[in-house]
Amino acid sequence: MDKEKPVVISLGGSLVVPNGGIDTEYINKFSKFIRKKIADKWRFFIVIGGGATARHYIAAARKITGKITDWDLDWLGIHSTQLNAHFIRTVFKDTAHPRVILNYEKKIVNLREPLVIAAGWKPGCSTDYDAMLLVRDYNAKSLINISNIEWVHNKDPKKFPDAKPIEKISWEDYEKLTSQEWTPGINSPFDPVATKLAKELNCTVYIIGSNIDNLDNLLSGRDFKGTIISS
Ligand code: UTP
Repeated sequence: MDKEKPVVISLGGSLVVPNGGIDTEYINKFSKFIRKKIADKWRFFIVIGGGATARHYIAAARKITGKITDWDLDWLGIHSTQLNAHFIRTVFKDTAHPRVILNYEKKIVNLREPLVIAAGWKPGCSTDYDAMLLVRDYNAKSLINISNIEWVHNKDPKKFPDAKPIEKISWEDYEKLTSQEWTPGINSPFDPVATKLAKELNCTVYIIGSNIDNLDNLLSGRDFKGTIISS
């Protein structure tokens, strides 16, 4: 991958806050890795998802109210991403741009820091879409989606044990394979709203799991485990 351009990472909140607390061990490893890369002149935008915090609030609001709009559920998710993003910005306080991106219409001018942390913005999408906006607005070329989903499969691996991982897929085929309907808290490799924009921008998206050595392999142009979605 080219380090002349910033790399946009969509970091699944489930890796920051899995079910049951903050994964300090993982964040520590991730932080050391990103710092090493920054020392080697890489630049990053990292968008943080809502993780179990978002899923818990969304599930609780659904249960208690019985009837609630997607709009209200999405806002619970957005606030969760903001808390997680603020946490990650605190971890990188000495390195990252001081402001977490919360409004994608306000572009950072004269960016000096090698790292910017971002959170959710508006209802109706996930942080995958926000990460795509950063690709568009900051002249990045590709997007790395890191989450607890390691591959795109040819069918849902939770329902079908014989589901096979896919190494490379076009946006058209990805759209046919996955649900294209938005639902708050949706768990899909790459969300449908972000998919539309990625297709429009001809962007390549890499879906990989949490393994840091695998991320290093991808950045360094070596073989890696994961799915490439492209035009
Ligand atoms: P994400 O779905 O991005 O979190 O945001 P996540 O934890 O990274 O998800 P995984 O790990 O990739 O599966 C959580 C929820 O916040 C709302 C949506 O409801 C979303 O599902 N959200 C987030 C928005 O409505 N708008 C945004 O811009 C971002």
